[in-house]
Amino acid sequence: MKRVLSGIQPSGQLTLGNYIGALQNFVKLQHTHECYFMVVDLHAITVPQDPAALREQTESVAALFIAAGIDPAKANIFIQSHVSAHSELGWLLTTLSYMGELERMTQFKDKSAGKDSIGTGLFVYPTLMAADILVYNADLVPVGDDQKQHLELTRDLAQRFNARYGEYFTIPDPYIPEVGARIMSLDDASKKMSKSNPNPGSFIALLDPPDVIRKKISRATTDSGKEVRFNPVEKPEVSNLMSIYALCADMTLQQVEQKFEGQMYGAFKKDLAEQVVAKLEPLQTRYHEIRQSGEIHAILKQGAERVAEVADKTVRDVKERMGFVLPR
Ligand code: AMP
Ligand code: TRP
Repeated sequence: MKRVLSGIQPSGQLTLGNYIGALQNFVKLQHTHECYFMVVDLHAITVPQDPAALREQTESVAALFIAAGIDPAKANIFIQSHVSAHSELGWLLTTLSYMGELERMTQFKDKSAGKDSIGTGLFVYPTLMAADILVYNADLVPVGDDQKQHLELTRDLAQRFNARYGEYFTIPDPYIPEVGARIMSLDDASKKMSKSNPNPGSFIALLDPPDVIRKKISRATTDSGKEVRFNPVEKPEVSNLMSIYALCADMTLQQVEQKFEGQMYGAFKKDLAEQVVAKLEPLQTRYHEIRQSGEIHAILKQGAERVAEVADKTVRDVKERMGFVLPR
């Protein structure tokens, strides 16, 4: 079985975009692959985090993994910082990386643009991500477009290590889901829906109560026309809402178009809101059950213990190859 690995940062509320673009695919992959899904708290602290908020968000994202349908009996669910091998391999790989290649990372350039003090953590972020992936010798990494460059760097670091110290690391490939839906922002269809957008009206959080979802959808930007027609170039906002409809109602875009033929945006949006509410309702119910039961801690502990065996072995092997004296 091929190994799949991915991580989500606990740096804000997960959105409908994360659900459609990531979590739903994770749920499918767990049946056919050996899966590693983690909450990457060590990555979140590359920008300042309030301790209480970080703790809450980390637990929340882990619970959302399970609420979305990832089964801890099938997939490994864990918190990155629970497995110290990530940090250790991260350092070892950092010493193999070059300033130049890290300076070229577009995410680093975006996040540091215009700032006069730039955190070092933000700069070496990609070497820790490489460690996350290589420590389990993952074959496939489901990530969005914005992470492809980091994956490229991971491949380079793995190849560099293999060339210097002998073949060891698997060279991971990006995994592009069949339905590569990209959900756009509700206030600006040229930007992806993102939990880090300062305007909460721009995204639907997975835990938004029904009335908030209704309000956000009713206020979503649309063009001045009135036909519910799919055309991402001429009607990007309505097309984005139609994609969301199709994904939530399990319909094709054509079926959505037919269903709303001759109807106004208002009616379409009302119906869309109910579709989204219905789609998220079971997930939210399950989420609150998990949080109340406190079971998440045992699941995460078990997940970390299981994967640490694999990760610790990798670090031992790597250190041995690099010439470290291992404790005997
Ligand atoms: P992020 O929230 O940017 O850390 O992304 C975590 C994962 O969720 C990424 O690997 C993406 O595949 C997915 N994702 C995030 N936002 C969207 C979106 N608006 N549409 C589709 N997928 C998304
Ligand atoms: N950098 C990724 C993001 O911001 C999160 C991440 C960290 C990740 N480690 C990973 C994704 C390993 C895939 C594999 O989305």
